[in-house]
Amino acid sequence: MTNPLGTFTRFSALSGLEQQVVDLACFGAESSAHHALCFKSDFPVGAGVLAVNAAGESKAFAGGNVENSWFPPTICAERTAATRAAFEGYKQFRIVSVFCRKYPGGSPCGLCRQLLVQFGRDAVLLNIVDHDRNVRKALVGDLLPGASSAPIAFADLSGEEKKLVRRANALKTRSHVPYSKRPRAALFVCDNASGKRRVFDGVSDDNASYGGSALAETVAMRTARTAGFARNASLVVTVDDTKAVNPIEGECLQVLREFGADAPIMLVGLDRSVVHTTLAELLPDSFGPEAL
Ligand code: THU
Repeated sequence: MTNPLGTFTRFSALSGLEQQVVDLACFGAESSAHHALCFKSDFPVGAGVLAVNAAGESKAFAGGNVENSWFPPTICAERTAATRAAFEGYKQFRIVSVFCRKYPGGSPCGLCRQLLVQFGRDAVLLNIVDHDRNVRKALVGDLLPGASSAPIAFADLSGEEKKLVRRANALKTRSHVPYSKRPRAALFVCDNASGKRRVFDGVSDDNASYGGSALAETVAMRTARTAGFARNASLVVTVDDTKAVNPIEGECLQVLREFGADAPIMLVGLDRSVVHTTLAELLPDSFGPEAL
């Protein structure tokens, strides 16, 4: 587990508006109506969003996780609150709160992070850490930061790294990306139970429904899992900009999280330069298996 994000702040030290948004998340996680919606996990999560519309008016929205008998269509509490706000035209988020009733302090998953950052990296994030409604206060943008280390030119890479970069770039052209127009290749390198190490390929595969699309990283990770390789994971990904914030989608980081709390990640830029980072850096304070 990585360090929790933000600064511990007592409920009494929050502004009136912040307290209101915290209360919405607690209400979401505690209401009995919501319980019927998390029938698969019995893991109620509540969220609140305070957002501003084009006229400058602000409004608060509550949300809870809405589950499906098949897992992927499940919507987390944060995304329920966020989409309620956005659909009503409140697209500039100012305050976001989240409360995992059975695991206080549990922070948003990678998919929620991906959605939240689009509506305001500057919004205040209030992660409720106990039943007294005290929080850790951070910014939504902190949930999906960029990599911190400097790019290494292709010429300065090791022979092994150069091979991975060449393999990823050659693979990229096989992407099926008619809608996103974002070709991407990923290599997932890991061991099986006997310690054998192997490299698994993946390319991005768009779907007309958007939601049915798969990113290169998830394709590679799932292929490895299928072959029985899930130890000492590390990921190589082609990206447009190695120094961008949020260089890899939150969904991929969340899938990688299931292989462990940290994994080395190699971002390969368009000029074949490489930035070395880790899952802990790109998905700080992550939501993982120990929460359930
Ligand atoms: N869940 C959320 O609502 N928010 C999170 O940030 C993490 C997980 C939900 C999804 C699912 O219904 C249940 O908690 C177990 O993961």
